[in-house]
Amino acid sequence: MVKMLKIGIVGCGAIGGSLAKIIKRDFAGRAFVAAVYDIADGKAADLSKRLCGSGRLAAGTLKQLIARSDLVIEAASAAHSREIARQALGARKDIMIMSVGGIVSHAAELRRLAQKNGSRVFIPSGAIAGIDGLKASGGVTVKKVILTTRKHPRSFAGVRYIQDKKIDLEAVTKDTVLFSGSAKDATVLFPQNINVAAVLSLAGIGAAKTEVRIIASPDTRNNIHEIEIESSAGKIFTRTENVLHPENPKTSYLAVLSAAAALRQIIEPVRVGT
Ligand SMILES: NC(=O)c1ccc[n+]([C@@H]2O[C@H](COP(=O)([O-])OP(=O)(O)OC[C@H]3O[C@@H](n4cnc5c(N)ncnc54)[C@H](O)[C@@H]3O)[C@@H](O)[C@H]2O)c1
Repeated sequence: MVKMLKIGIVGCGAIGGSLAKIIKRDFAGRAFVAAVYDIADGKAADLSKRLCGSGRLAAGTLKQLIARSDLVIEAASAAHSREIARQALGARKDIMIMSVGGIVSHAAELRRLAQKNGSRVFIPSGAIAGIDGLKASGGVTVKKVILTTRKHPRSFAGVRYIQDKKIDLEAVTKDTVLFSGSAKDATVLFPQNINVAAVLSLAGIGAAKTEVRIIASPDTRNNIHEIEIESSAGKIFTRTENVLHPENPKTSYLAVLSAAAALRQIIEPVRVGT
């Protein structure tokens, strides 16, 4: 008999809620949502009710959620993803991390912890295309990785860097470069907007060498990510125009689908792609 994978979801917002629905719809018989947890009052109970008609899936604490899961999916926040991953790995559970900006500087620590406890860390490609080619290019010398992200100015509302620089997002009427520099700095300054830079860094040449440009673009309806990769194996260029998640305009819907695809890779005996 095939063992059903018990999934615990931390963070019941746009990604966590959508993923839970997909798991219930598409993974029946192979995996199921065993527990959900959120720091905001009532959110876990609400999601639980939507999933099974009662609050029984809502865990009271992160520790309880981890105890009820084989695989923990972090869809909470960059401020907490490292600690959530440490606790899951410490309990010998696998972890899938969505708030990649929060762990990009701690990947070595999580790798050690996972190795020590026989657990695994999964980081989906998220809202970009090209991670497959970048990973394959790791077998040769990768000279350059550049990410250019365009989002509507409103996507940057509440970002401390924008406030500190006194940039008036309402007054942005044409494409305006908000940031140009390393992925290392970008992930610190734009933790909620730039998970893609963190994934790209981990898959490629690291956060210090990966270059990032962030552009506020008033004519852009979708989140657009362009990636240029130059290696001794050739050149790669990808452009992704992502539909926004209806519940959170900072999040691309493709990020949800990418996590579902990563989950499928974990469960399925056949894996296609790097
Ligand atoms: N990897 C990617 O490509 C990618 C793409 C988009 C978003 N993200 C990241 O994924 C995360 C979730 O995104 P979202 O759109 O669902 O956000 P959201 O704001 O819609 O939902 C996040 C939920 O997590 C909860 N939460 C926050 N801190 C928590 C904690 N410590 N413990 C439990 N719950 C907590 C919040 O109360 C909220 O309900 C964010 O960090 C976001 O930056 C990653």
